[in-house]
Amino acid sequence: MTADPLSVHLKALIEADGPLTVARYMREALLHPEHGYYTTREPFGVAGDFITAPEISQVFGELIGLWCAAVWQQAGSPSKIALVEFGPGRGTLMADALRAARIVPGFRDAIDVHLVEASPRLRALQRATLPDIDVTWHDGPETLPNQPSIVLGNEFFDALPIRQLIHRGGAWQERCIHLDEINGQLGWTDRPAPVELTGLAPSTLSPADGDIFEICEGGRIVAEQISRHIARCGGAGLFLDYGHGKSAFGDTFQALRGHQYVDVLDRPGTADLTAHVDFDALLDSAASGGCICFGTVTQGQFLSALGIEARVETLVSNASPAQAATIRSGARRLIEPAEMGTLFKVVAIAAPGAGALPGFGPPRNR
Ligand SMILES: C[S@@+](CC[C@H](N)C(=O)[O-])C[C@H]1O[C@@H](n2cnc3c(N)ncnc32)[C@H](O)[C@@H]1O
Repeated sequence: MTADPLSVHLKALIEADGPLTVARYMREALLHPEHGYYTTREPFGVAGDFITAPEISQVFGELIGLWCAAVWQQAGSPSKIALVEFGPGRGTLMADALRAARIVPGFRDAIDVHLVEASPRLRALQRATLPDIDVTWHDGPETLPNQPSIVLGNEFFDALPIRQLIHRGGAWQERCIHLDEINGQLGWTDRPAPVELTGLAPSTLSPADGDIFEICEGGRIVAEQISRHIARCGGAGLFLDYGHGKSAFGDTFQALRGHQYVDVLDRPGTADLTAHVDFDALLDSAASGGCICFGTVTQGQFLSALGIEARVETLVSNASPAQAATIRSGARRLIEPAEMGTLFKVVAIAAPGAGALPGFGPPRNR
């Protein structure tokens, strides 16, 4: 094992408590207060490890801002509304959304901005991106204000820790991380899976030997909490992420460093760890919280329905040739199937009784 501080810490945890679940490993690697990835690194952009949609094009956040304005109008234009973002990264989506929101009379004045962010370092960056905005930060959904709320999350759920079941010899085991006896490095092991976890594997799927099923317990809990909040206070939620629309088997646990995929166990704390979002499970949890659910639609379909082409043409008409090329290529990256257009999906939730939401067909029947 390398002697980097987080590996030393993980090794001590394993020696004290035994193998770590994937969720515990992810949580430590991403959010350890001193050595975690999000607490110590600048992950975004060309010089970082990955780039997200709001960092690719301002059009992304602007269209989402207009979506929020339309939802606010549909809700009867309440005089106060919480605009909440989970996992806001650098705060770019919120900045672009608020700028676009100004064109809808009354909307900007109605908004109170709330950000749910676990990393103190990223909270400071968000403060710098939103210098003149009155922002309230939260650790989780429990402290959100009791007022109508529009809740956003882009690439938030993929960052939440997952657990992995693996089917072996006719039964589910849980994949865990231990210390290899021969070389002392982090490695994989299985242990009998607890029933509270196996009970979450969908009974409609028949696993073959070696199949992996991933469960994001934290994501399910947060989705239900957000839904409960919106069902009680009014409003809607919009979540964009990479993942699958239907629950499925597969190992999607991945690490990105410098825009390259690397081994998930290699130098924890120095790479972004994520897993694909199981939107079926997420919307099941949201439905349990009382909201009606919409989607999934692909990011390409969603942004096209919101008018990305028209917005690009408006921006291009005032741009230099070089700027125009950047604007067009950014927008293409967001919507083209071979880029982010198909892998990335979009879902929404709304308080019972809400009408159709922009960009979506009728609500899902569950
Ligand atoms: C992949 S980044 C996405 C950033 C941003 N939404 C974007 O699109 O650029 C994940 C974000 O979620 C935050 N995050 C991760 N786990 C969290 C948790 N448990 N609670 C709140 N925020 C969390 C990270 O610190 C980061 O801001």
